Amino acid sequence: MSTKPRRNQTVWKSPWVFVLAAAGSAVGLGNIWKFPYMAGENGGGAFVLVYLFCIFLLGIPVMITETLLGRRGRSNPVATMKVLARDAGHTEKWSWFGWVGVACGFAILSYYSVIAGWGLAYIVKLLAGDFVGVTGEGSGAIFSALTQKPLTLLGLHTLFMLMTMLVVVKGVRDGLGRAVTILMPVLFVLLVIMVGYAAFSGDIMSGLRYLFVPDFGALTGDGLMEALGHSFFTLSIGMGAILVYGSYMPSSASIGKTVLVIAGLDTLVAILSGLAIFPIVFAAGVEPASGPSLLFISLPIAFGEMPGGIYFGGLFFILVSVAALSSAISLIEPAVAWLCQTRGVSRLKSGILMGALCWVIGIGTVLSFNIWDSALLFGTFTFFDFLDFLTSSVLLPLGGILMAIFAGHVMTKASVRDELSSMSDTTFSLWYALTRWFCPLAIALIFVLGILKMLGVA
Ligand code: PHE
Repeated sequence: MSTKPRRNQTVWKSPWVFVLAAAGSAVGLGNIWKFPYMAGENGGGAFVLVYLFCIFLLGIPVMITETLLGRRGRSNPVATMKVLARDAGHTEKWSWFGWVGVACGFAILSYYSVIAGWGLAYIVKLLAGDFVGVTGEGSGAIFSALTQKPLTLLGLHTLFMLMTMLVVVKGVRDGLGRAVTILMPVLFVLLVIMVGYAAFSGDIMSGLRYLFVPDFGALTGDGLMEALGHSFFTLSIGMGAILVYGSYMPSSASIGKTVLVIAGLDTLVAILSGLAIFPIVFAAGVEPASGPSLLFISLPIAFGEMPGGIYFGGLFFILVSVAALSSAISLIEPAVAWLCQTRGVSRLKSGILMGALCWVIGIGTVLSFNIWDSALLFGTFTFFDFLDFLTSSVLLPLGGILMAIFAGHVMTKASVRDELSSMSDTTFSLWYALTRWFCPLAIALIFVLGILKMLGVA
């Protein structure tokens, strides 16, 4: 007898819609913008190695867990946790976890939108030929000139938020699906071409050495936590985005295989981005530890020197913006879904309300790059740094621990097995062991080690 709770909700007809939506959520600024700059700030190879370890041994099992929670609960994160905990005879307080996730998505989107706004500005700048023949220094100057204008950044942030809200209120399923199907493969091809170009005209050997030869001495405590947090950020796990998409997944689809495909694709896009960026960084004398500006300074140098680079570069940033948009939607979807499903508010009103709130928080990030750039929290963090550290290095891994504990210790093994019925016995046992013990312990260990290293104790 199945103990599956009945939820009155639509389910996508084909498992492919889940793959598309989840891949659209996973592949975004995290891969193209954040991964390269974090690798650059943390000395390269050692960071990449820890990141890959976290993706395969922690990220993939947790992504499977999050998808199955969503599919079994068939609702928003708050209601899902409540219902599943009740079904398992445990306290409904687990719904608090859903709340933290919803808030975390909000906080991420508030800065994600500001960065995506830079991408929008770069479409125009590239098409206008601003980077033709530019040097590393010149490219850096163009970037700083942009970030020094708070009103322009605010306008771009507003534009991106409006685009996100437009898609969200029209419903996640019909909105962006078709565009993503066509544009994502194009982005992939463009990245491969850029890697080829970088190999041909940049310093490929230095790039490869930097990314793949680990220097563990260069990995600090926050570097360790960032590698863990980024593996969650890039897969969109730990806050409920994948849970919501899982709630629309047909029961017949195989969660394990689907997750493997998405995680594989996502990792490939990140590595390709690194391979496109670092050879140019080294050839043009850009500082690898430039931080959030790295993508925006390095690739335009190559676009500025290659034939047809104006159009190629313009198209590249259009595709980056679309990738950012499909991720942004999933960041706010848990909040919107919650408001619609539990408060009976219309999708339009929920979208506007949540979008407006997010927009307001985003102003803090806009100012972090100019007026507030020396107003440091805890002595080191700008508002943006703090939000980023809190969400991706702390809240997402914490969310991962809780989900793993929930599926491994709160839910019954039978109900979990029922949801993963297409998995072989061996794979299931492996996943179950990882989820029950390895993930919570390993995440906690990296966490504690990171904090001790930050405090200078380890
Ligand atoms: N995974 C997205 C990216 O790499 C960001 C994201 C994080 C989306 C968390 C949803 C949830 O850009």
